[in-house]
Amino acid sequence: MYLLELAGEDDAFAAREAESAATGVRRIAPGLATAGSVVPERVRGLAYTHRASELLGRTDADVESARTLLEAAELDRDRDGTVAVRATDVHGSSGISTGRAERELGRVLVDRGFSVDLEEPDHRLRAVFSAGRLSDDARDASDGLPTALEATDADESGERVSVCALGWVAAESVRDFGARAPTDKPFFQPGSMDPLLARAVANVAGARPGRTILDPMCGTGGVLVEGGLVGADVIGTDAQTKMVDGARENLTHFLEPDEPAPTGVDRGCWHVGRGDATRLPLRDGAVDGVVFDAPYGRQSKIATHRLEDLVAGALSEARRVADRAVVVADRSWVREAREAGWELEATFERRVHRSLTRYVLVLG
Ligand SMILES: C[S@@+](CC[C@H](N)C(=O)[O-])C[C@H]1O[C@@H](n2cnc3c(N)ncnc32)[C@H](O)[C@@H]1O
Repeated sequence: MYLLELAGEDDAFAAREAESAATGVRRIAPGLATAGSVVPERVRGLAYTHRASELLGRTDADVESARTLLEAAELDRDRDGTVAVRATDVHGSSGISTGRAERELGRVLVDRGFSVDLEEPDHRLRAVFSAGRLSDDARDASDGLPTALEATDADESGERVSVCALGWVAAESVRDFGARAPTDKPFFQPGSMDPLLARAVANVAGARPGRTILDPMCGTGGVLVEGGLVGADVIGTDAQTKMVDGARENLTHFLEPDEPAPTGVDRGCWHVGRGDATRLPLRDGAVDGVVFDAPYGRQSKIATHRLEDLVAGALSEARRVADRAVVVADRSWVREAREAGWELEATFERRVHRSLTRYVLVLG
């Protein structure tokens, strides 16, 4: 069993992304989930999970309980090398002192025969404290379809949870998203997708080595860059020549540098061309997943389509070329997705600011 430390503000969406790197993901407390197994290389490429640790056990969110848990835990006595304890209080929710937790748990490890190296330990024990209500914010927009996650008991009753989980770090995500901020890319346009969201939607669409992901309205290529960095082959089309040229510039820059990829997998191949998302130059079933970020409001739609027709046409073309799609937009588009033959697997909503709510639809 593994402990996942989630990142970002939307645990349900983070857990959904984590399913691309882990099995049996279940949220257990704000910012925390467990998983039956993980694929370490894929954890390295997650946007909204910080790390996965081999779970030693879990108890209540207080230092005494954590100490008792560690005293009783079966520890791998053959674990060579030095250890250190790192404690976190998720969103400051449990109010425990992380310094005290680290000292007390470190003492238990020393008593149990481990040698501690706080600077450069060979193994890190995570002690993660979290308290609060498990909200179920993965919701169907219209008719109560199942959410992306199986509800836990705590979800159903809405009860408050108080958790301390202990685990040895097994894999950490590479936090280099800041280097790909839209405004720092060789080609930038307003409306470019933030690299964290772009990575997450690429992962949810199934990006990984051996898979092909299409963004039929690729803009500056934000999704394609992130999909390529986790090893997927990526294809992009856009109606505007300016965007196609710009996406090429960004993809050359980020997917063809000399140094190896920080995620540890080879970067995928890429192809970008001018095209209309409602008439894709691809054969049926040509790709494994489609991701697109529909134009918002009046922004950047091409003159020949009304926005509704553009999205409906793109959804139906996506259905023809793939079995999975992830759509990001400023409105739900659920009806159009169903009319195009998709089933809604999950939907996530996040209020970005007063006049913008972002919807993510996962379609299969
Ligand atoms: C919201 S932007 C995508 C932004 C992109 N995700 C990024 O990170 O830069 C929408 C894009 O759809 C493109 N577009 C509009 N109508 C289109 C159509 N019929 N076919 C293909 N692309 C279209 C626009 O040129 C624009 O680049």
